[in-house]
Amino acid sequence: MSSKKYTVSVLGAGKRGKMHAKLFNQSDRIQLTGLCDIDAGRLDAAAAEYGNPAFSKGDIPSSQRVCPLTLYTDVNKMLTETRPDVFCFCTPPAIRKSLFQLGIDHKVKLIAYEKPMSTNFNEAKEMIEMARTAGIKTVVSHQQKYGDHYQAVKRIADSGKLGRIQSIYGHTWGWYLHMVTHVMDYLRFYNNNAEALWVAGQIDGRGKLEDNHPSPEYAGGFIHFENGVRGIVEIGAISPDVPESEYPWHKGRFCIQGTKGFAEVIIGAGWRACTEDGYQEGPGCFNYETDGARYIQDIALWLDGTQIHPCNGEDTFKGFQMAMGLLRSAIERKIIRFPLEQGENEVEAMKRIIP
Ligand SMILES: NC(=O)c1ccc[n+]([C@@H]2O[C@H](COP(=O)([O-])OP(=O)(O)OC[C@H]3O[C@@H](n4cnc5c(N)ncnc54)[C@H](O)[C@@H]3O)[C@@H](O)[C@H]2O)c1
Repeated sequence: MSSKKYTVSVLGAGKRGKMHAKLFNQSDRIQLTGLCDIDAGRLDAAAAEYGNPAFSKGDIPSSQRVCPLTLYTDVNKMLTETRPDVFCFCTPPAIRKSLFQLGIDHKVKLIAYEKPMSTNFNEAKEMIEMARTAGIKTVVSHQQKYGDHYQAVKRIADSGKLGRIQSIYGHTWGWYLHMVTHVMDYLRFYNNNAEALWVAGQIDGRGKLEDNHPSPEYAGGFIHFENGVRGIVEIGAISPDVPESEYPWHKGRFCIQGTKGFAEVIIGAGWRACTEDGYQEGPGCFNYETDGARYIQDIALWLDGTQIHPCNGEDTFKGFQMAMGLLRSAIERKIIRFPLEQGENEVEAMKRIIP
């Protein structure tokens, strides 16, 4: 196994930025060299939280710095000074394309960023084309699938013991732009990244349209995959409860139904299956630290050239297309076939049509 070391600079010192910075800091393959946020208070709080007194400010001359990690409030300055292999940004969903361009301009090898890919399909398509043109690797944090319980269900689904897979049902309580890209990504994961051919969807509720993850309050839909599997999704307020999980963000479930049985994973409460071998169950819970550490390890392996990252940008884009296709289906009141073309911004359209 390669022991080559890479460097990363992280933008965003909020919840996710701090988690990424912490995990990169613990990684033996990717060295954290810069951390940036426009909010200096958050930056200082993040530094204090790590308990690393050697963190230094970006305005201190580099010759006097005592630690390779520097704090910045200007992302351009951070990328210019640190020249990282990886640019990781963990900002709200409206801030994506300009940061993508910044990473490309600074010739980083890989951009790692947070879900959702964007708030609209047009921007996502532009971003994936920018990455293709620049020949840059991109990954998006759909890291839940690294969980032991997700992996146990994957092994069962791939073993053939469920018979022919007929449907994969995914539902979560969290609202659309927070959760839908996780849901679509894990549907594709369990369906071995089969191509989706069409989607039919319905949406309801204006209450989250002004959120920084602008969403319908509820969305439900059907996705048809070329291998005959039917995806069924529900996201938001009136999606089914999952009483096994107490924490609202863990009230989500993915169930794979085959001709000989089923296997399901609950975001916060393990997995269970009934196959030709009988009933089985096991533990597991979404965990930012352990799932995130595996996601980061795979970034190093992709940079080595050993394997393609399971959260790579091309697969993410396909999941995002399914998510935006579902919204378009509801907006245009018809089945939407893939590939999706550029069209009206989905958030603006939802504001126009949801009563
Ligand atoms: N993968 C996951 O499991 C997961 C979980 C939660 C959130 N997220 C995603 O992570 C992203 C960030 O969420 P969060 O909870 O960390 O939000 P947050 O509000 O805690 O942090 C966002 C940070 O970005 C900073 N910021 C905003 N605009 C900026 C700009 N122009 N330049 C520099 N910094 C800027 C803010 O000051 C803030 O510190 C969202 O897209 C969210 O959907 C992912």
